[in-house]
Amino acid sequence: MIRSEVRILCLLLLLSCLSQLPYPGLFNLKPGPPQPRLHAPQRGIHVLLWHWPFSRSYSLKGDKCLSVYSISHCFLTDDADALPSVDVVVFHHQELSSGASALPLHRSAWQRWVWMSLEPPVNNANLRQLNGVFNWTMSYRRDADIPIPYGKTVPGVHRLSFQTATNRSYFACWLVSKYKPSQARASVYQSLKKDIPIEVFGKWKKNPLPDHMLLPTISNCLFYLAFENSEATDYISEKLWRNAFQSGAVPVVLGPSRATYEAVAPPHSFIHVSDFRSTAELATYLKHVAADRQVYEGYLQWHHTHTIRTLTDWRERLCHICVRYPSLLATKVYQDLEGWVHG
Ligand SMILES: *[C@@H]1O[C@H](CO)[C@@H](O)[C@H](O)[C@H]1NC(C)=O
Ligand SMILES: *[C@@H]1O[C@H](CO)[C@@H](O)[C@H](O)[C@H]1NC(C)=O
Repeated sequence: MIRSEVRILCLLLLLSCLSQLPYPGLFNLKPGPPQPRLHAPQRGIHVLLWHWPFSRSYSLKGDKCLSVYSISHCFLTDDADALPSVDVVVFHHQELSSGASALPLHRSAWQRWVWMSLEPPVNNANLRQLNGVFNWTMSYRRDADIPIPYGKTVPGVHRLSFQTATNRSYFACWLVSKYKPSQARASVYQSLKKDIPIEVFGKWKKNPLPDHMLLPTISNCLFYLAFENSEATDYISEKLWRNAFQSGAVPVVLGPSRATYEAVAPPHSFIHVSDFRSTAELATYLKHVAADRQVYEGYLQWHHTHTIRTLTDWRERLCHICVRYPSLLATKVYQDLEGWVHG
């Protein structure tokens, strides 16, 4: 074959492929101006924690990010005198909101201020006064600049240090310290308990579970009611990640949408309250699952392919700022922080 014929053939092939593309217009799309991202400073990233969450402090001695979490060039301090020189200042919301702490009076133009909270919107009061103050957010939300979920799913094998599956003494368990009749979870509980036995632990029933007894006790429950105190975007707390998943009980969840749980939890690992038209229907389903060992164990199959990592230490969360740093926008301001939190 002569050269020009080859060329024509190639061109024809290419054209025939292009015409098969679902969006020929794709080639005409002009990308927007690139958003500048951040380069980490040579001397490393210096992060100041302005006050400790809930007044409980931990040691920041040594290079914690490197020695404990293998994150390099990331330096944490809680020394307010470092304010003028740090790259990032982190403010935990609770103390700003209560007045226990206040924002510094001066800020350098290049310094990033971070709003941090792991609480759902209902617990984040007095946000309006903070509009236009922060450059980044740090929360359990997936769309936060620095997402710090209560837990995450990673590939691996989930090993429990407890007896699983067969002989569990409780059908369903619930751990609740602050019971409020007005919460959705309270009405689901009140009506669900008419059809299935629910063992309630925690302050509300004066049946407290000391920390070291938490997982061993819940591991004796077939189901664990991982009911969040409020239904908010991405708000999935340690009730799912620790209490249910780390104990090996099958979680019955009430919180954000099924799609949210599907995006973050292991496959086929939970039963979602909103999949049922009534608590009676939910109870019937739970009894069916409990009665059929294969169906029940289907909810534990993920243990062979996935495991859970819980994030519980504020220091690890802070070190995570440095991991995210290069992908963060160089200039950003939360003009409507309140709107974002409630979004
Ligand atoms: C579990 O319960 C069954 C039937 O009640 C009993 O035969 C079996 O020994 C129990 N297994 C354990 C590990 O307790
Ligand atoms: C950070 O937020 C402050 C307050 O709105 C703003 O003045 C400053 O320009 C922001 N800095 C960056 C680098 O985006």
